[in-house]
Amino acid sequence: MRIDIITVLPELLESPFSYSIVKRAREKGIVDIQVHQLRDFTTYKHRQVDDYPFGGGAGMVLMPQPLAHCIEHLHKERTYDEIIFVTPDGISYNQSVANRLSTLKNVLVICGHYKGIDQRIRDKYVTMEISIGDYVLSGGELAAAVLCDSIVRLIPGAIGDETSALSDSFQDKLLAPPVYTRPAEFDGMKVPAVLLSGHQKNIDDWRHEQSIERTKSRRPDLLKE
Ligand code: 6GU
Repeated sequence: MRIDIITVLPELLESPFSYSIVKRAREKGIVDIQVHQLRDFTTYKHRQVDDYPFGGGAGMVLMPQPLAHCIEHLHKERTYDEIIFVTPDGISYNQSVANRLSTLKNVLVICGHYKGIDQRIRDKYVTMEISIGDYVLSGGELAAAVLCDSIVRLIPGAIGDETSALSDSFQDKLLAPPVYTRPAEFDGMKVPAVLLSGHQKNIDDWRHEQSIERTKSRRPDLLKE
């Protein structure tokens, strides 16, 4: 899979892609993530990429020229299955969307900043608009990092234990059960006996019950879908 990201803050995206599963996936060649500095594509003076909104109002808007130039430049190398704009007014991101995106070959992610990007870029190029939750971030970079992390770990080979991604919370629309490790007793608190029993069927049943209980009490909305 190839993921291109357009941003005015490429530095903000360095560390999220340099550790753990995403780092190893990149090293193994499972995913190629390339971050592009939008300012390299502007024809305006002083590397300017944003301007005041027509009609007034607070905040700056990313101008269409640098974005169009950058997208067209990337388009010469490959065609994209999706061109995603990360924005608080996009569709809600969830595991189903992540699963679908993880099956694609080429994805382009555009990070907005300030008040967003010129609507004409959204109209002409963007095929999908995604929000990672009902709160406001200063820019799309952290959202793009969330997208990439959640997608990359789903690509076959990215996680050593192949079953691990499938046992995540949400993968079966249930929250994950509680987990325990050594010692078997800590500060007077014991690990549930079933987990020490060696009886795998009972352990699996217990975990499934715990998943349902957790989901009922914390996220009843998930059970209604
Ligand atoms: Cl994708 N971008 C920004 N700036 N804020 C957000 C978001 C995205 N998703 C939730 N809040």
